[in-house]
Amino acid sequence: MNILNTAVLTTTLLLLIPLTVKAESSKLSPFVNTQGHIMLPADFRTNLYHIGSWFVPQGEASGFHDVYMDKIGISAFRSTGKYADGTVIVKELRHSKTSDFTTGKGVAYATDEIKQIFVMIKDTQNRFLDNPNWGDGWGWALFKPGQTKNISSDYRKDCLGCHLPVKDKDLVYSDYYPTLKP
Ligand code: HEC
Repeated sequence: MNILNTAVLTTTLLLLIPLTVKAESSKLSPFVNTQGHIMLPADFRTNLYHIGSWFVPQGEASGFHDVYMDKIGISAFRSTGKYADGTVIVKELRHSKTSDFTTGKGVAYATDEIKQIFVMIKDTQNRFLDNPNWGDGWGWALFKPGQTKNISSDYRKDCLGCHLPVKDKDLVYSDYYPTLKP
């Protein structure tokens, strides 16, 4: 190959690289558009996997917290201990009631009434630096029942403080999900 051909080939490759990177970035997740707007994953209760639950007995966050994750994200975490790019985690809060059942008295169960839904999407490449709902390696979102718009205005105000106790677990309460254990 002569010098001219090499130069042309190199220039062509250099031109192609940024385009490839851009195409990759926009493919982060089906739940994120090119501006970084996070959408509520449709039918997440049947499309994602339930990885664990919490029960908060009283206060503003009372009720059942059911947590869901995508299959690829689960497999990656189980084998590497890290959240893969594009991993989606959904936490749904439901009101609870108690009643007597054949298993015992005062059994707590989740009602049909949803309080709110939280979403985190892993971003290993800091794609949306200008968007206040992205940072610390994640996209952060909050949805009210029946609504599709992320109502979190800034994850640093709305989310981060409460997730700092698990900073060394990539800001996720990772140790408490049985399904994530190998
Ligand atoms: C009042 C404290 C608090 C605030 C505010 C908060 N979180 Fe959390 N979050 C928690 C705790 C504690 C857990 C796990 C235990 C639980 O659900 O009770 C959790 C769990 C989660 C989970 C499940 C994965 C995990 O980390 O275990 C997601 C997803 C989540 N939060 C997203 C968000 C987003 C997005 C925001 C902001 C819009 C937010 N949270 C705001 C305290 C909080």
